[in-house]
Amino acid sequence: MRIGMLTGGGDCPGLNAVIRAVVRRGEGEYGHTFVGYRHGWRGLLDGETMPLSIDTTRGLLPRGGTILGTSRTNPFKVDGGPDAVRATLASDRIDALIAIGGEDTLGVAHRLSLDGVRVVGVPKTIDNDLSATDFTFGFHTAVQIATDAIDRLHTTAESHDRVMVVEVMGRHAGWIAAYAGLAGGADMVLVPEEPFDIDTVCERITHRHRRGAGFSIIVVAEGAVPRAGTMVLADGDVDAFGHVRLGGIGNVLAPEIERRTGFETRVTILGHVLRGGTPTAFDRVIATRFGLAAIDAVHDGEFATMVALRGTDVVRVPIADGVATLKTLDDAFYADARAFFA
Ligand code: F6P
Repeated sequence: MRIGMLTGGGDCPGLNAVIRAVVRRGEGEYGHTFVGYRHGWRGLLDGETMPLSIDTTRGLLPRGGTILGTSRTNPFKVDGGPDAVRATLASDRIDALIAIGGEDTLGVAHRLSLDGVRVVGVPKTIDNDLSATDFTFGFHTAVQIATDAIDRLHTTAESHDRVMVVEVMGRHAGWIAAYAGLAGGADMVLVPEEPFDIDTVCERITHRHRRGAGFSIIVVAEGAVPRAGTMVLADGDVDAFGHVRLGGIGNVLAPEIERRTGFETRVTILGHVLRGGTPTAFDRVIATRFGLAAIDAVHDGEFATMVALRGTDVVRVPIADGVATLKTLDDAFYADARAFFA
């Protein structure tokens, strides 16, 4: 078979590990050939490709980012987009497609599969907000980067008796904030799933400092929202999938905390640092296993499916299940994180 592959949406560590695994088994064991499409779905609109083989994917395992490039292009937002995608697949004689991405990229894959495009999805995002899989690759690395940063911010916070606000990505789910907050020993974690009250936040910081703690670490998810009527946040731009560009709530929160409590407060926005560099061992293993399972599904002719992690098993689920609803932070985990809050 001639198999196309694309990486779409936000990049993250582990993407290259998936590409490497797909090609290693697909070419080495099954004798298939591969065509890499550049920059996500845009590569299928423009017909922009690059060769993928065992030789061209050697050494990819530890490399962050994606050699294919990525974008947030949505073919369903382009006049004639889906037809152009199908025309490219036909002209390149592609028998099947492997789409590696988050809810947006796999949402497009799902819609194309309903039109008969033979596609298998691989769930990717640092946000860990895709349903039907316990974890997405990229998440573990983002949590490790955030935890390392929180550890480092502890030393400057305690040296200056300051409140340090640490903003992390995660879009509209609080997984990164809650995991990194728990791992990093944060004194409070603000997540999108539970709108916060700035009065309560400041009261708890003040109470903690009165009990002798000279500093506090507050982790805030970029998608966290204040209770209605308590604070005003600026609106960001919207991308091709209708997502508002997030980031910056920490810049609003920190001065508000300092003004209300009188404690020196500083903010660090980790942003895209959380998507950079080499994947952790855990993400390398998940990404590799996802890639192997994806090419197996293609080889078995099981399309409109997505590979997924269930416990320690990699399974196949309908791609529709992966994109149906956003997987937000579960209460049980957040309750554990809250056990250590101020
Ligand atoms: O979906 C991954 C993610 O990193 C989100 O956590 C974040 O809100 C968004 O992508 C940022 O998108 P971009 O890299 O296009 O600014």
